[in-house]
Amino acid sequence: MSTINYSEKIPNNVNLGEDRTLQRALEGWQPNFINWWDDVGPDGSTNYDVYLRTAVSVDPQGWAQFGHVKMRDYRWGIFLNPGDANREIHFGDHKGEKAWQDVPGEHRANLRRIIVTQGDTEPASVEQQRHLGLTAPSMYDMRNLFQINVEEGRHLWAMVYLLHKHFGRDGREEAEALLHRQSGDVDNPRILGAFNEKTPDWLAFFMFTYFTDRDGKFQLSALAESAFDPLARTTKFMLTEEAHHMFVGESGVSRVLSRTAAVMNELKTDDPQKVRAAGAIDLGTIQRYLNFHYSVTIDLFGADQSSNAATFYSSGLKGRYEEGKRTDDHILKGQTYKVLEVKDGQLLEKEVPMLNALNEVLRDDFIKDSVAGVGRWNKVLEKAGIPTRLTVPHKAFNRQIGALAGIKMSPEGRVVNEQEWAAKKSEWLPTSDDFAFVASLMGRVIEPGKFAGWIAPPVMGINRQPVDFEYVRFG
Ligand SMILES: [Fe+2]
Ligand SMILES: [Fe+2]
Repeated sequence: MSTINYSEKIPNNVNLGEDRTLQRALEGWQPNFINWWDDVGPDGSTNYDVYLRTAVSVDPQGWAQFGHVKMRDYRWGIFLNPGDANREIHFGDHKGEKAWQDVPGEHRANLRRIIVTQGDTEPASVEQQRHLGLTAPSMYDMRNLFQINVEEGRHLWAMVYLLHKHFGRDGREEAEALLHRQSGDVDNPRILGAFNEKTPDWLAFFMFTYFTDRDGKFQLSALAESAFDPLARTTKFMLTEEAHHMFVGESGVSRVLSRTAAVMNELKTDDPQKVRAAGAIDLGTIQRYLNFHYSVTIDLFGADQSSNAATFYSSGLKGRYEEGKRTDDHILKGQTYKVLEVKDGQLLEKEVPMLNALNEVLRDDFIKDSVAGVGRWNKVLEKAGIPTRLTVPHKAFNRQIGALAGIKMSPEGRVVNEQEWAAKKSEWLPTSDDFAFVASLMGRVIEPGKFAGWIAPPVMGINRQPVDFEYVRFG
């Protein structure tokens, strides 16, 4: 077993070195984490020196230190945002009481479940993305992929720290299980559906980081309100990193659109076959990818009515997005919210108790945020003089979870029958032909400053480095 000087090897602001029990637990877990990274982390990357951002403290200077490192030597630190000794619980039945520094016995099982579910998504996405480095469209993009991968690894550390520190033996067992479940594994899959889907190509990767990392933002924001103070402070710090992941997705899709629009203008065509023949991704394919990733991601918020959601809120475990900025009573008893259901082939709204609809509340907040970025993508098309616009599908489209699961719905929100679904599905969701075409574009472009033909270069490099900087050195 390796002995680690925690204050050096694992940057932290939680006095790791002073807690022998915790240190022993992490010493047991750390080599298993590295084995996991070697087994299912970025494929073939062991000898690469990657220009990465490492957090060495939470202050503005410390959380973004850049330099070339080998990923398995990355310093996966443990950071909580600064605490406030007087922090009070600001929602639910315990509103006004002091925030908890330890886990109250009666909330232990639920808190563990929340932390494990969040923790499980972090290594899952690394597994989903493990082959993408082999087909990176540029060295810049490869570096961004690896940055996201190491930060998801750090987020796993953040959750494992909480499990080890606050949940004793069960926590240690859960921390082990986080390394054993595997994305897409038939026998032992990751907990949530979207994290068992494939991320087969870079268009899928950009859609994933735009939509699914944004789910991460909303879940982390809700947990950042938690009465369990260590969870609130950990997730607040994770949010600073999540912003970069969504940037990679948003700018990635923008760059794809910009290249596609340029090809359409050059050839004066909107014929998808001609766009494809010229080596760019046609807008129809981009829209279908969007439909897929959006619908799979909004399922992550869970059932539209959920007694667990009510319990998590009322007991102070999980708040709403920007709970502190809302002007209601933060208790929500007797309030209602509208959810959708299908009755006699009609999509209807119905009022239900708001506490039970808090998954839907968070999903709706996510939808607003996602739509704003799609608007920015459309600006790229507008500027290029292309009349086509991307849209997010109706929230009942292609759902697998909640009251809308299995209902056949067009992207515009019209209930359709089986026949129409079967006939139109290939217009609405990516087909095997779409995947094969996008896969055919996925070469590997790794000379500094060079970019694959289906994507435009970024406007600027990382950390004020030039676009043609050597972001990855191949050992
Ligand atoms: Fe994460
Ligand atoms: Fe992320």
